[in-house]
Amino acid sequence: METMKQYIEDAEKALLHTYNRYQVVLDKGDGVYLYDIEGKKYLDFCAGIAVFALGYNNKKYNDALKNQIDKVIHTSNYYYNVPAIEAAKKIKAVSGMDRVFFTNSGAEAVEGAIKAARKYAYLKDGSTDHEIIAMEHSFHGRTFGALSVTGNPKYREAFAPMIGNVRFAKMNDFESVIEQVNEKTCAILFETVQGEGGIYPAEEAFMKSIKKLCEEKDILLILDEIQCGMGRTGYMYAWQRYGIRPDIMTTAKALGCGIPVGAFLLTEKVGANSLTSGDHGTTYGGNPLAGAAINIVLDLFEENHIIDNVKETGAYLEKKLDELVREYDCIETRRGAGLMQGLVFDRPVGDIITKALDRGLILINAGMNIIRFVPPLIITKEHVDEMTAILRTCLDAE
Ligand SMILES: Cc1ncc(COP(=O)(O)O)c(C=O)c1O
Repeated sequence: METMKQYIEDAEKALLHTYNRYQVVLDKGDGVYLYDIEGKKYLDFCAGIAVFALGYNNKKYNDALKNQIDKVIHTSNYYYNVPAIEAAKKIKAVSGMDRVFFTNSGAEAVEGAIKAARKYAYLKDGSTDHEIIAMEHSFHGRTFGALSVTGNPKYREAFAPMIGNVRFAKMNDFESVIEQVNEKTCAILFETVQGEGGIYPAEEAFMKSIKKLCEEKDILLILDEIQCGMGRTGYMYAWQRYGIRPDIMTTAKALGCGIPVGAFLLTEKVGANSLTSGDHGTTYGGNPLAGAAINIVLDLFEENHIIDNVKETGAYLEKKLDELVREYDCIETRRGAGLMQGLVFDRPVGDIITKALDRGLILINAGMNIIRFVPPLIITKEHVDEMTAILRTCLDAE
């Protein structure tokens, strides 16, 4: 077998260099642990960037996918299939939304949400110059629509022009939103908890003011739940904490727990007055394998009381991270909700993350100075203790 070094060399010769990858070739997983091809074990507090909620090598999940593979994987959206129908019913039930469109990724879900909002506005007045308000420091994906509403110029600059008619406001600053609103505004779009931008949860007053504004002006509220959704904050969808409902929402990542799926969901009002036959489509979205993945994920969420675990273990993680904030001068603060947390440092965190990897702990950043904690949602307090013990040794070695 090739060595890890050889594989990495091969990868760097063959793959387009769009990532500065950590120098590890991962091979398999079990529970909350990953193993590299040399057998080294890692405690995983990244979960494939907030994807693998149920932990690795979950037998029921694996069996459900294997069964579906043996039946049929793909049929196209010209026909109905039972896994997608069941998945749509379940996702409606857990979200309280009314209509579902399945995609293959988060970015595609955002694209669909933008199209639905523009079409809704177009049907009202027939004009095609509507505007969307998004937030600074947001991240919505790499396709052109998603990139256009991503509030970090670094990601957009070289690829201009964007889709246009997007204005940016400041997260948790209602006045800054008001400044951008005009008669052309068709939607306000943001992550309920900003992920890549540095783990910023929407404040309750901000969320409620925006909802009220949207209702008054018939502006659509679009919430991106791709990273913060699926139980991660202790609610199935993070917006459920605020007692509001968006007009459109996006979901992906943990929805398929590794099978590439996403969805955008709409209220009946928006569903009935936006995208219609021929307006939008996808070859793979909602195929039987994707449907089977969503079904088993949502079943296992219920069976394993995932949300309860997030509430309990999330509170414990907060407590332990707060202890680190008090102990280490280089840590400025902690932000987050449930099992989506960030530790804000006074310096870049790259070295600490590399040290952690050497010591068998997988962490990721969110921006230069923030360590992000988005572990599988099945972690226990013991795993949190194991993580903080390793992290301490890295901080002590700084
Ligand atoms: C909030 C948010 N929206 C959208 C996306 C894009 O999702 P994908 O990478 O599946 O296209 C991400 C990915 O990190 C995300 O965190």
